[in-house]
Amino acid sequence: MTQMKDHQGEEGFVEFRDPDAREIAESAHWQFFEQRMRMRRSMRHFSSDPVPISLVRKAVELATTAPSGANKQPWTFCIVGEAGLKRQIREAAEAEEYKNYHGRMSEDWLEDLRPFGTDHHKAFLEDAPYLIAIFKQLYGESNAGSGGRQKHYYVNESLGIATGILISALQMCGLCSLTHTPSPMNFLEKILERPENERAYLLIPTGWPHPSAKVPNIGKKPVHKMVYEYL
Ligand SMILES: Cc1cc2nc3c(=O)[nH]c(=O)nc-3n(C[C@H](O)[C@H](O)[C@H](O)COP(=O)(O)O)c2cc1C
Repeated sequence: MTQMKDHQGEEGFVEFRDPDAREIAESAHWQFFEQRMRMRRSMRHFSSDPVPISLVRKAVELATTAPSGANKQPWTFCIVGEAGLKRQIREAAEAEEYKNYHGRMSEDWLEDLRPFGTDHHKAFLEDAPYLIAIFKQLYGESNAGSGGRQKHYYVNESLGIATGILISALQMCGLCSLTHTPSPMNFLEKILERPENERAYLLIPTGWPHPSAKVPNIGKKPVHKMVYEYL
């Protein structure tokens, strides 16, 4: 083993302990996690049955623990359940998406989207009990009210990782989600009255699937085309 900097006696470090580490991959916990994650699909047909807010909070709170550049946690998660706000978001998203599907998207793009059967109608933005609007923080506030700016690093990478944890956590709560990018998304900043340093990053509707929900019959690339081992 290589020499490790042990930080012995140094302030600012705590012991790291994970007693289950060596057994977990062989356990039923892993099998359950893998089975749930392989079942995940992007959901576009939600039931409007209510979902306990505690489930969504659980998932969002876990996402906030994600790794981030210099631990700045440059994200804001807004959980939107209020019907009037969901309607405003749907209307604004559909207006942008109408323009996308009727001129702004290239022919190639439209062709690539054909298997998904999507168009500018976004009923899921009202049907899903909750929309999670994720904002990236371009910079942080140094001291409340001081006007100072704190630098944030690798913001997009950090947000992508946090979103991955969010989607996984929702899935482990039994909830479906969709990664939605109605472009441009700046209407979210206005509707939710976000501060100047925040930019809309993704919109994630979540809830139970509609009883007759369907998903596109698409496959995934073979693993050997995406994974190379250098052992
Ligand atoms: C960054 C990103 C943006 C996406 N934007 C949309 C979107 O705006 N609308 C939509 O219906 N699906 C969107 N999707 C979902 C993809 O179409 C979906 O993940 C892909 O087809 C694979 O299907 P699966 O998630 O069921 O495995 C997006 C996915 C990602 C990762």
